[in-house]
Amino acid sequence: MNVLVATEKPFAKKAVEGIRSIVEQAGYTLKLLEKYTDKAQLLDAVADAEALIVRSDKVTAEVIAAAPRLRIVVRAGAGYDNVDLAAATARGIVVMNTPGQNSNAVAELALALMIFMSRNRFTPGTGSELQGKTLGIHAYGNVGRLVGLKGKALGMKVVAFDPFITDEALFAADGVERLSSVEELYERADFLSLHIPATAETKGSIGYERLMSMPKGATLVNTARKEVIDEEGLARALSEREDLKYVTDIAAATQAELDEKFGKRVFATPKKMGAETAEANLNAGLAAARQVVGFLKEGVTKFQVNK
Ligand code: 3PG
Repeated sequence: MNVLVATEKPFAKKAVEGIRSIVEQAGYTLKLLEKYTDKAQLLDAVADAEALIVRSDKVTAEVIAAAPRLRIVVRAGAGYDNVDLAAATARGIVVMNTPGQNSNAVAELALALMIFMSRNRFTPGTGSELQGKTLGIHAYGNVGRLVGLKGKALGMKVVAFDPFITDEALFAADGVERLSSVEELYERADFLSLHIPATAETKGSIGYERLMSMPKGATLVNTARKEVIDEEGLARALSEREDLKYVTDIAAATQAELDEKFGKRVFATPKKMGAETAEANLNAGLAAARQVVGFLKEGVTKFQVNK
């Protein structure tokens, strides 16, 4: 049985060693394709794979078609918008993610980006503090919740919006105020941390209107996906409101223009680095390997996202 780990952005060495040991102990063969630069390399590598472990790597219908033996794809991470679920489902391929495994790393980065922006991107001058400010969490999943808890530890007032969470007690237990409308969330948030997935409903959903409703001096923080932003609306809001800031871990398609037009009010990390910690790599990588083995040996489908 061949398990292919295909990561354009490789896991830390220790994580790869851990994955290898889980896969080989199960009696399978590990194939590694790292830092590939061409889609053709991936198409070639999947040809004899029964299982595929990826990060943000694009598992398109073309990749699936090039993998006749493929039975399972595990996205080592949370967001699985990079996998063509319809194409996988049509072939009976199980797709999973590893929820929660890299959340802390992303949450820490979200807070770091807030501090970076509120301290003038670490350049001389008077900045401001997070303490006492209102932190809005858009989607209270694994990452959103951790951002909220960490924000509280820094003395922020935390408000959250997530219509999909049924456990009302969760918010109260965390000392977080649950809001019933997305409008109120943006109206109140000095820092708005985005944790919505990229879906047909959310793509392009955060733009002019939401930004314009934010309080004076507000910062929109994106460690989710670039696709959820309406970039035209973002640029328009930033032009009309000189007090607004945008910081992101996923550079906008129009990032160069945003940088040029809005200077220090916008910032994008050079390459998505939310989950780029040794700990997150290890947690997500090992979980993915265990899930592959659990499925191939015992048919375990926990964390399947295309049921
Ligand atoms: C996720 O969805 O888990 C994060 O966006 C991390 O993505 P990455 O594995 O490409 O760093």
